[in-house]
Amino acid sequence: MKVAVAGTGYVGLVTGVALAHIGHNVTCVDVDEQKIKKMQCGISPIYEQDLEKLMHENQERLIYTTDYKNAYKNADVIIIGVGTPERKDGSANLDYVYTVCNQIAESLQQDCVVVVKSTVPIGTNDEIEQLLRDNSAKGINIYVASNPEFLAQGTAVHDTLYASRIVVGVEDKRAEEIMHTLYKPLTLEPYNVPYLSTSRRSAEMIKYASNDFLALKISYINEIANLCKKLGANIEEVAKGMGLDPRIGNKFLKAGIGYGGSCFPKDTKALHWLSTCNGTELLTIKACIEVNKKQKLVLLNELINDLHCLEGKTIAVLGLTFKPGTDDLRDAPSIDNISLLLDMGAKVKAYDPIGIENFKNHVHFKLSNDGVKGTIDYYESIDETITDADAVLIMTEWPEIVNYEIGNYKKLMKEPRVYDGRNCYPLENTKEIIYSSIGR
Ligand code: UGA
Repeated sequence: MKVAVAGTGYVGLVTGVALAHIGHNVTCVDVDEQKIKKMQCGISPIYEQDLEKLMHENQERLIYTTDYKNAYKNADVIIIGVGTPERKDGSANLDYVYTVCNQIAESLQQDCVVVVKSTVPIGTNDEIEQLLRDNSAKGINIYVASNPEFLAQGTAVHDTLYASRIVVGVEDKRAEEIMHTLYKPLTLEPYNVPYLSTSRRSAEMIKYASNDFLALKISYINEIANLCKKLGANIEEVAKGMGLDPRIGNKFLKAGIGYGGSCFPKDTKALHWLSTCNGTELLTIKACIEVNKKQKLVLLNELINDLHCLEGKTIAVLGLTFKPGTDDLRDAPSIDNISLLLDMGAKVKAYDPIGIENFKNHVHFKLSNDGVKGTIDYYESIDETITDADAVLIMTEWPEIVNYEIGNYKKLMKEPRVYDGRNCYPLENTKEIIYSSIGR
């Protein structure tokens, strides 16, 4: 099939490359010329395992372009995979989605299924279909399918090829047939992905409800962890004991310094906003958002309690990205923590194996106007980062940090004081240092 994909972020590019891998001819469209040039040279603009390898392997079925007209005019399927960032009020900003829809409407010259992969509020697919039908050339049949994405960053390629499920929300038989043809190879050996056909609104809701449920699970286990720490229980044992119940499941029960990333924070706020607007406020999600906000600072609050004043103190921050395996920093707990450390006048020494360039280029701190401002310097090794530090804050469980020799904290720091937001070390290995973690 002839497929065009709008947007070459995590969702768009990985989807395009995966569809080329299963035999479709795919044109990836983006407005960013620099990105397109990179991809034309075989370089992935994002850090994602196996992505570049698959771009090479399937290069004869992949085109990268900014020329949307040519890409869309005779595509059988056009997939919209552009961002839907958070507005100030928490709602989803659909500007990029509608810009692409208008471009599709002005370009289409044949029947087409427009597939919405971007996470959009329930009902948006209906509006998009109306807009496309009203604004496209007469005589063309346009169908809109909601096809939410469930890939996670860091494992995006694997998650797409060996997905937990393909959800397709359609309202027409013809669209259903085309979507089935598009994904058929993934439903067969060796992938065997379950295919679920639903109404469009249900598909839109499945995406939000799934992400918000996972976020809720994390906030729940984080709250239980905080209570465990107060009461002398160990969250890892507790989570293991809970997870053995198949009704609960053992995934997403890892307590930590809070969830971040481009999805959970914005999707919880967007669904909460939508529920409030519709007079059925989701109180569980409201609580989940509040818990996560507080959770990001639990260890910093402990550190402040322990050291009292952080002005002039050297604090090493290990891990900047919102999770390992990605260079993405969106809503990463490191940002809130470093922002406060700088506000309190600390000298921050930051380490991350992948995310430093992104951090320097994209994270801008809004510091308050009073008091002495701290400083931030970046290091390429953990040794250098922790040398002479008064305390270490661990924000991301990168393998480099998890496998780090604990004895070095004692050797290199002023005082071996480690606040571990990702429970990187077994408690029994931390007896020689002053160590605080989550829920243990
Ligand atoms: C998430 C979902 O997992 C995907 O299914 C979904 O497709 C994606 O959002 C999206 O909507 O695009 P992602 O944000 O890439 O994927 O990352 P996750 O692996 O889900 O982690 C999110 C955050 O939760 C991270 O900060 C991670 O550290 C945290 N987390 C995760 C925990 O604190 N504990 C856990 O047990 C699991």
